[in-house]
Amino acid sequence: MAGQIESRKYEHIDICLTKNVEFQNQSAGFDRVKLQHCALPELDFDTIDTSVFFLNKKLESPLMITAITGGYDGAEKWNQLLATACQATGIGLGIGSFRQALHNSCYRQSFQIARETAVDIPVIANIGAAQTTDPDLRKKIIEFTRQLQFDALAIHLNPLQEILQPEGSRSFVGLLNGIAELIQHVNFPVLVKETGAGISAEVAGRLAEIGVTGIDISGAGGTSWAAVEAYRGAKPHLDEFREWGMPTVSCLEQLLAKPLNIPIIASGGVRSGIDAAKACVLGAQLAGAALPFLRVLHDKGVSGLIDRINEWKEQFRVVCLLTGATNVSALRKISYQIEKKY
Ligand code: FNR
Repeated sequence: MAGQIESRKYEHIDICLTKNVEFQNQSAGFDRVKLQHCALPELDFDTIDTSVFFLNKKLESPLMITAITGGYDGAEKWNQLLATACQATGIGLGIGSFRQALHNSCYRQSFQIARETAVDIPVIANIGAAQTTDPDLRKKIIEFTRQLQFDALAIHLNPLQEILQPEGSRSFVGLLNGIAELIQHVNFPVLVKETGAGISAEVAGRLAEIGVTGIDISGAGGTSWAAVEAYRGAKPHLDEFREWGMPTVSCLEQLLAKPLNIPIIASGGVRSGIDAAKACVLGAQLAGAALPFLRVLHDKGVSGLIDRINEWKEQFRVVCLLTGATNVSALRKISYQIEKKY
């Protein structure tokens, strides 16, 4: 089983780097969001402050790279480089699922390297919700997160991907209870994230009720895991699910109508600092992305990734200027319209 997971992890990276795995017919919805332009900002661009606090650490901009990898030969290098770029630019980092390291300690280092490299920023560990239903595994998950001193644990929900994978889970019973049990026994923050199909206000409400610290909605419009699994040979009639999911902006709209008292991270199809700023206006604490950062790291190395993150940070600041917002709190208050899609 462990060997199977390692090769799957490698295949995911390979497919995401070489194939067209993004949604084709629906966007994350940021094109529908129009922020009110301020023609008279009365601001000095160089004094705009985009810093925020997240998980008790200061970020230079409300951005993060969401979970990508870990747990196979080669993953250590990816996580070291991702962590180097996040540390250099002052943004947050999520690492991939550490499930393999629970079965084989030789993979621990591929996760530990991220923590050791990115000392000043929040580094968030990651595990599947299915793993929280087993009491022994729960203990190991808690131990791993504590020992490696991650700032938080993100638990991912991915029913779409699991049901399309020939080797994936078929039962999703007891996941909420597993997460609730885990939360009872920890003193670190526990976030829950999707992986590109979105979290509705109804599901977010159930998660908030059991004490989840924050939610990454990871909506549709960016990486399509149905597309990734199709390239891995999922059943052809299930390829039809390539466009399944709630676009990220639709998830944010639902949460605006039914606000929760916990931080929301917006990811899934966030493709620029402008999208990230729009997500913050729509109530997100942070915005995150995975695929675009993985690809630029592969194509242009760590300096290319640092440059790309700095470009997003600058785009974010330009949005602040053009909306007359001197900082992120002011940005959250500006007027906007969300166009209906026909
Ligand atoms: C991911 N993602 C992911 N999520 C998670 O919770 N655990 C994981 O191990 C992984 N692994 C992973 C590998 C690769 C290669 C990619 C591209 C992504 C999902 C990721 O964090 C994010 O939620 C989605 O990819 C949507 O964001 P983007 O890619 O549209 O920016």
